[in-house]
Amino acid sequence: MTEAPASNSERFYITTPIYYVNARPHLGHAYSTIVCDAIARSKRAQGVETWFLTGTDEHGQKIERSASLAGRSPTEFAAAISGEFRALWQRLNLTNNDFIRTTEDRHKRGVQKLFAVLRDRGFIYKGSYTGQYCVSDELYVDAPPGSPCPDCGRITETVSEENYFFKLSAFERRLLEYYEVHPEFIQPEARRNEVIAFVRSGLKDLSVSRTSFRWGIPVPGDEKHVIYVWMDALANYITALGYGSDDPADQQRFRRFWPADIHLIGKEISRFHCVYWPAFLMAAGLPLPRSVVANGWLLFDKNKMSKSIGNIVRAETVADVLGADALRYFLLREISFGQDGNFTFEALVQRYNGDLANGYGNLVSRVVAMMHRYFGGTVPKAGGAGEAERALQIAAESVIPVYQSQFEARDFSRALETLWGLVAAIDGYLTAAAPWKKPDGRSEEDHRCAQARVLTTAAEAIRVVTALAWPIIPESTAKVWRQLGLGDLAQAAQAGKLKTIAWGSLQPGTAFAEPAALFPRAEKDAIERMLNLENQNNLSAVAAVSQTAEESAAVSNPQVSAEAAAAPEKTKITIDDFAKVELRVAQVLVAERVPKSDKLLRLEVDLGDEKRQILAGIAQHYEPEKLIGRKVVIVANLAPRKMRGLESNGMIVAASIGDEGAPVLAGFLEDVPVGARLK
Ligand code: MSP
Repeated sequence: MTEAPASNSERFYITTPIYYVNARPHLGHAYSTIVCDAIARSKRAQGVETWFLTGTDEHGQKIERSASLAGRSPTEFAAAISGEFRALWQRLNLTNNDFIRTTEDRHKRGVQKLFAVLRDRGFIYKGSYTGQYCVSDELYVDAPPGSPCPDCGRITETVSEENYFFKLSAFERRLLEYYEVHPEFIQPEARRNEVIAFVRSGLKDLSVSRTSFRWGIPVPGDEKHVIYVWMDALANYITALGYGSDDPADQQRFRRFWPADIHLIGKEISRFHCVYWPAFLMAAGLPLPRSVVANGWLLFDKNKMSKSIGNIVRAETVADVLGADALRYFLLREISFGQDGNFTFEALVQRYNGDLANGYGNLVSRVVAMMHRYFGGTVPKAGGAGEAERALQIAAESVIPVYQSQFEARDFSRALETLWGLVAAIDGYLTAAAPWKKPDGRSEEDHRCAQARVLTTAAEAIRVVTALAWPIIPESTAKVWRQLGLGDLAQAAQAGKLKTIAWGSLQPGTAFAEPAALFPRAEKDAIERMLNLENQNNLSAVAAVSQTAEESAAVSNPQVSAEAAAAPEKTKITIDDFAKVELRVAQVLVAERVPKSDKLLRLEVDLGDEKRQILAGIAQHYEPEKLIGRKVVIVANLAPRKMRGLESNGMIVAASIGDEGAPVLAGFLEDVPVGARLK
């Protein structure tokens, strides 16, 4: 049975991609995961039993190489980075029900079962593959040797191995039919069109095992093969629920939540999720996920934020300075979901101050403070509503369904714009009513009645905003809920009390808690503080690399380092000192002159596992065009620095010749692989 049952309104299963552990988490990863968390929270608030899964993708050649470059075993390396993801998700208040690591036994067992089922059903056969492979994307590329990867532009490697193949070609027609009958399966439309065009251009069978490295899950019964990392990774969505387990509780969870309602993914991995994954599931006789929804990229300096480009910002930095909610709010408000969106510190601080500190935060603290000042913190009985109160009530009541349907349609930015329209309306109402000022000629008693009416109406409207905003800014809305004397908001959501948010639930006699700071205004130095945190982190990352190299050199050559410690030489360096310098082979992909500089060239180089920008003072001696494709030696762990406004991430090694110090680039007579380390 491969047809997904019609959507189940009582249960909901949402997943993030599982993140590679070759690099630490950054804002791009946080974005996808925060979106899933907001959706999961809103489903739970509607009383829907929800399962939210995330995790880490730990096998494959890319991780094996990254670990070896860091001088650590893949097991150790993966555990450390996976731990960072897990800790960050807690820090950002993410409510995932499970966190799967592909190195766990439960996952290995499930993947091996899936492989065996596909083989038993006749969809896997043995053959041999000679062709190109992109290690960075873990993608087979149909192109001649030396071609760049069509997705990331890195040079592909030639692989020639005995492999197991999956009969992907057999699913071409069935997949196209499925997309036709289920237009909601791939979202948004642009991704659906791309995927359909890809499948229409013809599907070849897919190699699903590798024999040239060991870091993966062995093929059951033929252990010299490891299962292709994408088959391994995609299966996490079912193994985490219990696929492959004999335990009845796991089997029940799998039956309960599979198929997934939403696989939320970045747009660059649509093919894996919309072609390979449904084909594997069809072949295994399992139901297909109800939808694969692709988000756009978070850009920084106009490029996709990514470790290989070197333009990442860490989520911790924003959380340290402005709080986790500020980050959550900003990402959902600023980016039109499905499209690419820019991250800038300036826009972040502007939104924070405008919408959160001066907007919602200031509104709440004014109302809570006045409730304490005028009514000792207890909600008074208010007389009949006037015109202004009725207008605010109508505004709130019309915002509720609009906000909810925009949220449901994943138009988070518009949904928040709608909700903050209500924040502005409450603000306007309060300013016009000015309950802190007794108009001339009004009796004390009438003034007190007016104060009671205005403050209870404003507090009620704040209650509505707070309940609706909980999935997006859970920490601060929970504080507000407590200040309004309503108790624990997360518990209220869990107990289904936010299922219907209707006007008029704040009861007289409710005791407000003391006001507590929500969003302290970000001062001028906030951006500088964030930039400093980022710089410090970059430096400590470089130091960590050197440290690892130092440790590993000491381990591999303990005698030398012991001797060096006993008799330090002034003018000579020890092997440990040398090991601190990471010299690597890189290939020049792009070379161009830096405007207004006669000395500098801007180079983009490929290190095998990442791309870098390096500025080199060689423009007077080398024509940029002639450098493209050339292999050079670089110092890879040099702290980044800026020249002419451009960041240089490393240094090219060259001999310095003659009195002028003319540079001659270091190179090799034999062919050397890109990324190789010089020791
Ligand atoms: N491990 C695979 C996914 C396997 S899923 C079975 C992978 N990992 S990844 O770490 O490279 O990227 C995973 C996801 O992180 C992306 O699909 C995307 O959702 C998110 N993002 C990483 N960088 C991003 C941005 N700059 N912007 C938005 N999302 C980004 O691919």
